[in-house]
Amino acid sequence: MSKGLFITVEGPDGSGKSTQIEYIKGYMQANGYESIFTREPGGTPISEKIRAIILDNANKELAPMTEAFLYAASRSQHVSQLIRPALERGRIVVCDRFVDSSIAYQQYARGLGECVSIINEYAISGCIPDLTILLKIDPEISLARLNGPSDRLESENLEFHKAVYRGYEELEKRFPDRIFSVDASLSPEEVRSQIIGRLSDLLGE
Ligand code: TYD
Repeated sequence: MSKGLFITVEGPDGSGKSTQIEYIKGYMQANGYESIFTREPGGTPISEKIRAIILDNANKELAPMTEAFLYAASRSQHVSQLIRPALERGRIVVCDRFVDSSIAYQQYARGLGECVSIINEYAISGCIPDLTILLKIDPEISLARLNGPSDRLESENLEFHKAVYRGYEELEKRFPDRIFSVDASLSPEEVRSQIIGRLSDLLGE
């Protein structure tokens, strides 16, 4: 049984995730919570090497199923080397993207189906987030916020990003207790106050 708290932050590209994660970091520091901030794909040296392969714009031939396995492989290493040990030490772990990204992007948007959930069950082996903050925003708005695509995934077309969004909506319906959605088209301050409100409830302040 883990003693810590596992929080993940999810959302489509351009949803303002990085800004909100900085706010969460500030909140944790200001309130003296021992927390670890990490990200996916990545988070350990091996997982970061896998990340470089996945996001490299030169890897046009990367097959969808290979991509799904690489995300899962990166995650498996991240869980076993960093996330689970930190939770066992009673830490709060905040992760920028986790398994829901694979469900939204690989299972739904790439259309790989249920096998993505299955390989990820092995990758996370029971390490399920206590809370997932989902930044919801229409892809037409979020993509306009990006300064042009910077990696292989961001370069996908609007249809792909719409499918990612629908994937997140499915997840939201399936896991209403775990997933806390915020309308990310609101101002960053408004989004922040909703997130901090939820965190304060969770941490019992
Ligand atoms: P990153 O530069 O970290 O983007 P962001 O700032 O939006 O998080 O790149 C991660 C990309 O990989 C992003 O487009 C989402 C995608 N992704 C998946 O397709 N599946 C996954 O399991 C994860 C973790 C990310």
